[in-house]
Amino acid sequence: MAVDVAARRPRIKRVFGGLSGPAIKPVAVRMVYECVRTVKIPVIGIGGIASLDDLLEFLIVGATAVQVGTMNFVEPGIAQRLAEELSAWCEKERIADIREIIGSLKTER
Ligand SMILES: Cc1cc2nc3c(=O)[nH]c(=O)nc-3n(C[C@H](O)[C@H](O)[C@H](O)COP(=O)(O)O)c2cc1C
Repeated sequence: MAVDVAARRPRIKRVFGGLSGPAIKPVAVRMVYECVRTVKIPVIGIGGIASLDDLLEFLIVGATAVQVGTMNFVEPGIAQRLAEELSAWCEKERIADIREIIGSLKTER
C-alpha cells in the first residue's frame, strides 16, 4: 500500500496490492527453507528470482524446481536465459547432477 500524501488518497486504485519481485526474495528463500523441512513433497521455489544466483539460492535451501514471475515483465526471455546459465554453471563447476546442489546448504559455522 502507498499513499499520495498531497491528495491523501491511496496510490493504488484498489487501495492495496500484492508485493512481488526482488523485494520479497529473502522472505521467499526462508519460506522454502522451512517448507522443505516440514513437508515430504517437492517444493518449488518462487519469489524475486532475477539472476542465476537467486535461482541457486532456492535450490541450495532445498527447492527441486523454481519459477520466475515478475521478472518476466522486465525480460520476457528470462526463464530460458536462466536455464542456459544454470546449465553452463553446472558444467563449469563440474556438477553432473543437479541433486548435488538441491538442499546442499551448510548451516554450521
Ligand atoms: C501479475 C501477477 C499475477 C499473479 N497471479 C497469480 C495467480 O493467479 N495465482 C498464484 O498463485 N500466484 C499469482 N501470482 C504470484 C506469483 O505466482 C508469485 O508467487 C509471486 O509473484 C512471487 O514471485 P516473483 O517475485 O517471481 O513474481 C501473481 C503475481 C503477479 C505479479
